[in-house]
Amino acid sequence: MSFNVAVLVSGNGSNLQALIDSPKLAASTVAIVKVISNVPSAFALTRAERANIPSRVIEHRGFDSREAFDRAIVDELQQARVDLVVLAGFMRVITPVLLEAFRYRVVNVHPALLPAFPGMHGVRQALAYGVRVAGCTVHLVDAGVDTGPILAQSVVNVLDEDDEASLAARIHAEEHRLLPQAVCWFAENRVSITEVEGRARARIRRDDHEPRL
Ligand code: GAR
Repeated sequence: MSFNVAVLVSGNGSNLQALIDSPKLAASTVAIVKVISNVPSAFALTRAERANIPSRVIEHRGFDSREAFDRAIVDELQQARVDLVVLAGFMRVITPVLLEAFRYRVVNVHPALLPAFPGMHGVRQALAYGVRVAGCTVHLVDAGVDTGPILAQSVVNVLDEDDEASLAARIHAEEHRLLPQAVCWFAENRVSITEVEGRARARIRRDDHEPRL
């Protein structure tokens, strides 16, 4: 039986492409069954079409509230029998309507080492702060903005000559490595959530054949 993944996007979709191209995912039970974009012109939709993945545009503007928008997304996801929802450059804050329908089953990728630099411009904020290392985070989504349990992180050095584009490019490369890996963990049922001091924390059961990230 396949492990059904939906990818929610708003833009370029290079992370969607990394999932489509991942040999690890191709060799697994993962099937990308749906791409949903809130932006009709998102290049990610072209990527979905090229890969023969069914896609839908659901524009947030057409709804009176965030909750009504999320309800429409949930209906689409449930129709497609989705097991895991991946936010890959999906630039909307999601509500409990989606989170409760897919409890601990919504994953986000963020271009900063959370909890530092959440929100829209993680790379720009990191550069402006003058950090020496930056990176990316794959995490479960909770009701906050970029606050949910962390699944994986990767660090990149910040170079003196970096601008936002050059640093973002190296961070993207790491996102493209981490995200397919994290999706595999779900498909292999290796992710568990425990409460530590009132906060949900993700643990990944190790596969002894696998090098540490
Ligand atoms: C990625 O860098 C992702 O981390 C970021 O948007 C980019 C989308 O790129 N997401 C956020 O900033 C969420 N707060 P992509 O469309 O090429 O995958």
